[in-house]
Amino acid sequence: MTRLLITAGPTHEPIDAVRYLGNRSSGRLGVKLADEASRRGWDVTLLLGPTPMACESTQVATHRFRTTADLQGLLSEHAPQCDVLVMAAAVADYRPIPPADVEDVERVKIRRTPGRMTLDLEATPDLLAEAASKRRPGQLFVGFALEPAATLLDSGKAKLVRKGLDLLVANPLDTMDAAGIHAWLLAPAGVIDETPGSISKAAFASWLLDHIAAKRSDNAQAGREAASTDR
Ligand code: CTP
Repeated sequence: MTRLLITAGPTHEPIDAVRYLGNRSSGRLGVKLADEASRRGWDVTLLLGPTPMACESTQVATHRFRTTADLQGLLSEHAPQCDVLVMAAAVADYRPIPPADVEDVERVKIRRTPGRMTLDLEATPDLLAEAASKRRPGQLFVGFALEPAATLLDSGKAKLVRKGLDLLVANPLDTMDAAGIHAWLLAPAGVIDETPGSISKAAFASWLLDHIAAKRSDNAQAGREAASTDR
């Protein structure tokens, strides 16, 4: 049985007790993927960010995260056991640096004062690249990238190589709030497929899982051939 680990939804990075930096990801796509994979009999674990979404399937093991640091901890616990990682979470690229004199930002509330205020931010770690660098043979890692349409394929390819992935789903920026999804699936050798225009997120889930299953069986076949030539 394929053990699939999916991450989905936004991260919230606390600024103080009541505020955070977040993004508009709903997590809907990752939840659809988890439900469809579970329907196919895959063993699914979903790491889900702060969103009202939830899986319909009761078979999906769901763990909630809020911050990038929470997700980093959950990934280091769950990624070693999976066969396939699909990283659909919209992970923050930057998070607030707590002021030096504050021990726990979530116990204080920043007061309003006249004039400007500046937030200091630090880059978050690249969780997918970090997980991919520890990947064992046989594991398949899939990333997502939201890119401007004009540079979609070039930027997607560069991201796939930089993060050390097997597959990358590239979407144009206007996918963000759209009901449907138009996607290109990239591998290190180039474009594998493109969805037939904009398709529903449920149809996309099936399309992507079919490609993942095909890639896993290609990899298994290549492994068997390599083993037989070694003999
Ligand atoms: N990702 C991650 N950790 C981060 C940022 C992104 O694991 N700190 C993952 C996302 O879950 C996604 C992939 O990396 O699967 C691409 O995310 P994206 O935001 O498009 O890429 P970035 O690395 O942020 O690159 P850029 O800002 O140049 O677009």
